[in-house]
Amino acid sequence: MNTKMKKKAPRQKNPRAPIALMTCESGRAFAESVASKMGTTLLPTNETWFACGEGKFEIGANVRGHDVYIFQSTAGPQDDRSIYDRFLMLLHAIEAAALSDAQYITAVVPYYPGARQDKRKGRTREGISAGLFARMMQSAGTDRVMTVEIHNDSIAGMFNPSMSHLENVFLTRQLVSWLRRQKLTGDVVVSPDVGYLERARAYAEELSADLAALSKERDYSKPNHVFRSTLIGEVKDRDVLLVDDIIDTAGSVVSAIDELKKQGARNINVACVHPLFNGSAWQRLTDIRTRAENEGWEFNMVGTSVICHENTPHWYHTFHIEPLIAQVLEKINSRGSVTGVHNEAP
Ligand code: R5P
Repeated sequence: MNTKMKKKAPRQKNPRAPIALMTCESGRAFAESVASKMGTTLLPTNETWFACGEGKFEIGANVRGHDVYIFQSTAGPQDDRSIYDRFLMLLHAIEAAALSDAQYITAVVPYYPGARQDKRKGRTREGISAGLFARMMQSAGTDRVMTVEIHNDSIAGMFNPSMSHLENVFLTRQLVSWLRRQKLTGDVVVSPDVGYLERARAYAEELSADLAALSKERDYSKPNHVFRSTLIGEVKDRDVLLVDDIIDTAGSVVSAIDELKKQGARNINVACVHPLFNGSAWQRLTDIRTRAENEGWEFNMVGTSVICHENTPHWYHTFHIEPLIAQVLEKINSRGSVTGVHNEAP
């Protein structure tokens, strides 16, 4: 028996196979919104959860030879399913499309699960699980995984390009231009840690603003625990735009804001791409807003619709990315340039 790993046989790729959009249930609201921007509808599908917790996904229409896009929200408040439940259901959906002879399969996963496990954080006996998620999607049969502002774009190198690849959508130009229109910017852009400095620089350049960063010290023996943030740069008497890719428990943001206020910052707007808001995140942000009102400064929070929160307070603003995703899907389907879409002035 040949024990060598078999390379996946290349599929025949026509320039423009008929497009087919479908979704797992946790991603339905986002997928419907993208489909409506594209002037189309989602294919009928059926997601079943058995009593034992096992899932199943069925496609209710022919997808043979189609260019299939499967949406899933791997995090968010729309149901109680865990990141693992949602991811496993995505794998069922990918496999269902592959076994139904779809020509090309793209998993549309705006928030890439495991993205923060992109390297070993100073200790050795742990996985690098961003790659594990990539391998699982590959072996289910996906040709491409589409993400939005992934935590570390080197995760693209964790995919085997003979099987599939990562397509990451960059938002900076569109988001900055929207922030400017909403008057939610600042004189200085601050990165909450040195890891995000390069992305923060892109915001600063687009806004012709100054740049500063915090050096964030974590205790990795406890999840989500920041014990100190130290400022590198100048914020005294200036309005700050604090930018991050992910807000999970809001521990990093609160620690950053405490330090910025200590250093004399005036008003603070926070913008993030993936507002996960777990644990006491909402309470922490509400406490910041209350503090701002008591002390007479402005605090606003911006998140994108990658994770859509409902019934939000007036100081929370949502930047809708569905039009951009619709444009990117159309480009991919017509084999056009996605980089061109990123660079287009909105
Ligand atoms: C870290 O590298 C990320 O960019 C975020 O700053 C972090 O994951 C946010 O987590 P939390 O809100 O729990 O502090």
